[in-house]
Amino acid sequence: VKLSLTLTDKTECTILVKKGAHKLLGSYWKPEWQDAVILGDEQVIDLYGDAVGEVIRPKVVHAMILSFPPGDENKNRAVKEDLEDSILSQGYSRRTCVVALGGGVSLDMAGYVAGTYMRGIPYLSVPTSLLAMVDAAIGGKTGVNTEAGKNLVGVIHQPGAVLIDPDLLKTLPPEEWCNGLAEIVKTALVGDAALFEWLETHVDELTQPGRIPDYPLEACVARKSDIVEKDPREGGVRAVLNFGHTIGHAIEKVSEHAIPHGKAVAMGMEVEARVAVSNCRFPAASSQRLFRLLQALGFHEKPDYSFEQLLPYLKVDKKNRGGEIRMALPRRVGEMAGATQGYTLPVSLEEARQAWESGP
Ligand SMILES: NC(=O)c1ccc[n+]([C@@H]2O[C@H](COP(=O)([O-])OP(=O)(O)OC[C@H]3O[C@@H](n4cnc5c(N)ncnc54)[C@H](O)[C@@H]3O)[C@@H](O)[C@H]2O)c1
Ligand SMILES: [Zn+2]
Repeated sequence: VKLSLTLTDKTECTILVKKGAHKLLGSYWKPEWQDAVILGDEQVIDLYGDAVGEVIRPKVVHAMILSFPPGDENKNRAVKEDLEDSILSQGYSRRTCVVALGGGVSLDMAGYVAGTYMRGIPYLSVPTSLLAMVDAAIGGKTGVNTEAGKNLVGVIHQPGAVLIDPDLLKTLPPEEWCNGLAEIVKTALVGDAALFEWLETHVDELTQPGRIPDYPLEACVARKSDIVEKDPREGGVRAVLNFGHTIGHAIEKVSEHAIPHGKAVAMGMEVEARVAVSNCRFPAASSQRLFRLLQALGFHEKPDYSFEQLLPYLKVDKKNRGGEIRMALPRRVGEMAGATQGYTLPVSLEEARQAWESGP
């Protein structure tokens, strides 16, 4: 399936979901791009750097393959500078295109390097993790972490094309699978009731790491593209993508990242769904559907922390306004509440505590 995302600044981004898609990079290459920088973390570059290089080399004068150590802790400014210095030392001009290859960490880094090199050069994106395919690769948010927090410095820079190749998932470490699955459930709950039903009836096709049918990938890409097209700079509807993440981020932080993002978001969605039942009449039966689906997909963990441990992290959430906690909450499966309030609703500490403590 091929989708075209048109942004308010009239730039267009083609998103292709297709087995073998990474081999088609050449057909998205523009003649004016005379040099190529293939950029990703060491793990994905070791696996796929040469294959991508072979596709690109016939199209360019110079090509370089650049990598940095894997891990979110390396998505930082110091590493970005080193990467930039390597490209500068080769004398690459503005007529260069970056190929961002990898999971969300690689794409955020490579997109940010492209976004600022010589004040911005184009890039093409080849996501390799499930999370990157359904989430991080779409929307053009790029950037790095700082001591003060995650993703605090960056630019919005749209890739020229996103090539989603499910074949690349075969080598993804199985423990990474849950991170993508949780975002798929989130995308379905916030904006796609048909996808949600499909997930409920195809659990067996989702729980074998390394393999996934095209439909959920295409549906997630389409939903995220819709949302980004309406709200490229996150002023409104894009907030719906935060469902499960207010509590989820707090769980990640209180666990010092021992609980991976996907598991934290799955727990966060359960808690926030309970908030939605009391706060905006999300039907209790729908919240039960969500709990059952998450369980069937293997999200069983229950957080061990007290609400008091969580609270400091809830209080610093970016969505808060004037000391009040806000959450993106569903009103039914596939539809979010609060359209007239920026898609976030105020939640009292007492409501949040009850939802946290009333878990199964
Ligand atoms: N820009 C956005 O809109 C956006 C959205 C969501 C998340 N993110 C960011 O994405 C990051 C998380 O992304 P992630 O979960 O993909 O983590 P990641 O990029 O660190 O990838 C996880 C691990 O899997 C490895 N890997 C990836 N694909 C592989 C493959 N096909 N075969 C073998 N190994 C592979 C990587 O080398 C890494 O070690 C975070 O930094 C987060 O902030 C960005
Ligand atoms: Zn997430």
